[in-house]
Amino acid sequence: MPFKYEELGLSNTKAMFEKALNEGYAVPGYNFNNMEQLQAIVTACAQSGSPVILQVSKGARAYANSTMLIYMAHGAVKMVREELKSEIPIALHLDHGGDFEICKSCIDSGFSSVMYDGSHLPYEENIKITKQVVEYAHARGVSVEAELGVLAGIEDDVHAEESTYTDPDKVVDFVNRTGCDSLAISIGTSHGAYKFKVDRIEDVPPLRIDILKEIQQKLGRKYPIVLHGSSSVLQEYVKMINDNGGNLEKAFGVREDQIREATKYGVAKVNIDSDGRLVVTAIIRKIFNEKPKVFDPRKYLGPARDELIKMMKRKNKEVLGCAGAYPSIE
Ligand code: G3H
Ligand code: 13P
Ligand code: ZN
Repeated sequence: MPFKYEELGLSNTKAMFEKALNEGYAVPGYNFNNMEQLQAIVTACAQSGSPVILQVSKGARAYANSTMLIYMAHGAVKMVREELKSEIPIALHLDHGGDFEICKSCIDSGFSSVMYDGSHLPYEENIKITKQVVEYAHARGVSVEAELGVLAGIEDDVHAEESTYTDPDKVVDFVNRTGCDSLAISIGTSHGAYKFKVDRIEDVPPLRIDILKEIQQKLGRKYPIVLHGSSSVLQEYVKMINDNGGNLEKAFGVREDQIREATKYGVAKVNIDSDGRLVVTAIIRKIFNEKPKVFDPRKYLGPARDELIKMMKRKNKEVLGCAGAYPSIE
């Protein structure tokens, strides 16, 4: 089933990022693994008039089936255009591609953007493989995100205890030699629901906006910077989970005002996955707890989907600033 992404109604990230940088907002990179998450993402973004990058990890491809995912994304585009009557740009993006082969496989099957994540490799090795991915992708109009610096936390099979901030002195050399279209950097964000080793939310440290500013200065105002690990681990959902039989202790995320601040200094894409996972789990736990007789999945997945839409619309408006960038349908 090889597709060109244009045949699926998808866009690469070039024009999306140009507009985002000119207007000072970030495009959301929301991850999905199932139909309800995908419906929620595109509905929230169409309703708020936001561009969107639909992200798929290696784990998502294994979970939902890589062929199924392409048709799901195509179905989501059709729903946005034909039923929601929205023209927001939609990209389908591989999140944390671990080698050239997975990037190639996604490009060949219809993705409009891929990330090659060589951040754990020695510098020269990261450059070598990123460049190889860029050559293959650019020949097909596909955008490439690369990463320099290491985030703490879990990314598919890779796990790092400590983060290593991106070295601003390396970014220009890396971007020039690889030709990557956007660069993910490490300035204090990390993956998952346990981002900081602190006991109280008040002790969550701010991001290293100083490093971001230096990187932006080196790359120039037109170059898109990406922030991974940008969930805020919303405490209302952590509480709902814990009040309904869950056990998430000391789960804290990045302050939303810090993400907003980062969009002023060249951050054109912000990755959010864990916040959505928390919403779904919180709502399902609450319903199971309060209505033990419910056994129709629509009765708990539906409300979870509604809450996801609400959360993402708020993020688009208040945190990323991308709501209203395109005509909204509300
Ligand atoms: O960066 C990781 C994303 O949140 C995807 O997570 O590999 O568990 O699907 P996953
Ligand atoms: P979170 O775990 O903070 O949601 O980060 C998601 C991410 O970076 C996906 O690539
Ligand atoms: Zn990530």
